[in-house]
Amino acid sequence: MIETHTIAETRAALRPVRREGKRVGLVPTMGALHEGHLSLIRAARQAGDYTVVSIFVNPTQFGPLEDLAEYPRPIEQDREHCRRLGVELVFHPGVQEMYPREGVVLVHPTKISEGLCGAFRPGHFDGVATVVAKLFNIVKPDAAYFGQKDAQQAVVIRRMAEDLDFPVEIVVCPTVREPDGLAMSSRNKYLSPEQRRQATCLRRALKKAEEMIHAGRIESEVIIGAMRELILAAEPAELDRPGIDYLEVVDPDSLAPVHEVTAPVLIALAVHIGPARLIDNIVVQPVT
Ligand code: PAJ
Repeated sequence: MIETHTIAETRAALRPVRREGKRVGLVPTMGALHEGHLSLIRAARQAGDYTVVSIFVNPTQFGPLEDLAEYPRPIEQDREHCRRLGVELVFHPGVQEMYPREGVVLVHPTKISEGLCGAFRPGHFDGVATVVAKLFNIVKPDAAYFGQKDAQQAVVIRRMAEDLDFPVEIVVCPTVREPDGLAMSSRNKYLSPEQRRQATCLRRALKKAEEMIHAGRIESEVIIGAMRELILAAEPAELDRPGIDYLEVVDPDSLAPVHEVTAPVLIALAVHIGPARLIDNIVVQPVT
């Protein structure tokens, strides 16, 4: 496994790979790798790609009050995961390398970044789209792998690739969960054991919504009401109430709100449990 820290080294390492006609697969990450990330790496390996993993905690996608400083950076462990899975190249740049000066040209997704997380994290998707565009320009992957866990991010990246003609196949892999249903996330580390139990309410709320739709309910308002009730009931006495940022039923491609579920919908939520802001989602097909 090669590890590079600069853009020039990375391009130089990939030149012979491309000359040999190998397909290059990129898995962009912020490190603190868990089974969710590893599933993306396995997908790239299974596709037969020369697999590049980028590890970069991207400051431009964090808001001023967010957890940039606390974000875990267990690089030795991450390296070990990559080595074990047969990753060929790890690109681990520093902030100076990626942003030698303030960027004045950004990738700014419009409509699809305004709702859901975008409404609560101003500028977040500009940061994400811009750093992923930079990574695409550095690595020039044939395929890039993202998780459905971050559904809005996956839509933003897919549309960026389409609208700006990046010659890359965007592969979105299913959400990997803990045995009790909690979506794996580097931020789960912030939870106390009690908060960790409380956090199962996210998945339970999504399953509840799915059940209701499968039972024939189509009014989003009613479905959202039931989810809200379930989440607020998950309040152990000595803890804060979960703080709901949003519970939404939207179109999976446009991310526009849907009032009646008559076609597949994305149900997405963001909830604060103690110090962690957790997100999750599910795609549900209505009964026909
Ligand atoms: P990060 O949170 O490290 O996630 C990297 C990739 O892993 C993303 O595509 C994310 O959706 C995926 N992922 C995380 N948890 C997952 C889970 N439980 N199941 C499946 N996939 C999961 O997302 C980012 O980093 C950054 O925004 C990035 C794209 C790297 C740009 O900085």
